[in-house]
Amino acid sequence: MASDRLTARLGPIELRSPLIAASGTVGSVWEWAEVADVSPYGAAVAKSVAPVEWLGRAAPRLAPAGPGMLNGIGIQNPGIEAWVEKMTPLIGGLGVPVWGSAVGESADEFAMVAKGLVSAGVQVVEVNLSCPNLENGRMFSLDASPSAEVIAAVASTCDVPVGAKLSPNTDAIVGVATACLEAGATFLTLTNSIPGFGIDPRTARPLLSGGVGGYSGPGLKAISLRCVYEVARDLPGAPIVGCGGVMTGNDVVEYLLAGAAAVAIGTAHLAEPRAGKRIERELSRELERRGATVPDMVGRVVPW
Ligand SMILES: Cc1cc2nc3c(=O)[nH]c(=O)nc-3n(C[C@H](O)[C@H](O)[C@H](O)COP(=O)(O)O)c2cc1C
Repeated sequence: MASDRLTARLGPIELRSPLIAASGTVGSVWEWAEVADVSPYGAAVAKSVAPVEWLGRAAPRLAPAGPGMLNGIGIQNPGIEAWVEKMTPLIGGLGVPVWGSAVGESADEFAMVAKGLVSAGVQVVEVNLSCPNLENGRMFSLDASPSAEVIAAVASTCDVPVGAKLSPNTDAIVGVATACLEAGATFLTLTNSIPGFGIDPRTARPLLSGGVGGYSGPGLKAISLRCVYEVARDLPGAPIVGCGGVMTGNDVVEYLLAGAAAVAIGTAHLAEPRAGKRIERELSRELERRGATVPDMVGRVVPW
């Protein structure tokens, strides 16, 4: 069980631990909870769900790529109706607060999914804005106005906190983050994977059947950390979940210092589904050494 030092506060949300299982890396939580100890986590975010079933892309859709990996799953999911049917009886008994993740191609679609997620009992809705807008094929989270439109639509249909999960693939992250908070987001998740590409030199084929995919893991950390740092610096006090390349307790410390109030673990779970236990141990040791709690650390990066 998490110690008092680990209690975290993400805006109005109290978490027993700052560690959050990132969407898409722990299934719909129940599958993962069967093999992993969920007690080190403050919350686990289920795989993103769309209004209707998405079949996803063909294999290969995962590939190691340098100090990270590429994925091109295509957000395979069963659609909100089937998800609600499966999850409603399970969600309260998994030993960890379950957050839902909504995806869609228009603001109305996101809102419809969010409503379903809440009806199944999720405690928080995270809005996955790293997907293409039906109107122009451009990722929502690259621009402030479509991102805000989606967040406003979701926030107005939900009576639970709403998080905006943004892409790092922009030089306008502070503007997008500001628009999302003004539109009703309770917190920001920074960040999703970044578009990446790889080729197998032997076959000359792209590593993924879909070509470009999402790059995640240790190679992403410096980029996501930059996003957290810039948003926390320009929007002091903004509740942030840091996400990208977290593999160790010290990675968590870096995100806290940069300004994140909680930190999500993603790719680490693919090779090590029980990573949370080890990372919690490493983080606890580091907090004890400093005589600090998690909130003590948030935003305490020391300027040169
Ligand atoms: C296989 C895989 C599937 C993912 N699926 C989703 C998803 O459905 N929704 C989402 O918001 N993020 C998804 N992500 C992104 C992660 O939640 C996370 O934001 C990203 O991988 C960066 O963190 P990491 O470097 O710790 O993995 C996925 C990542 C991976 C590796």
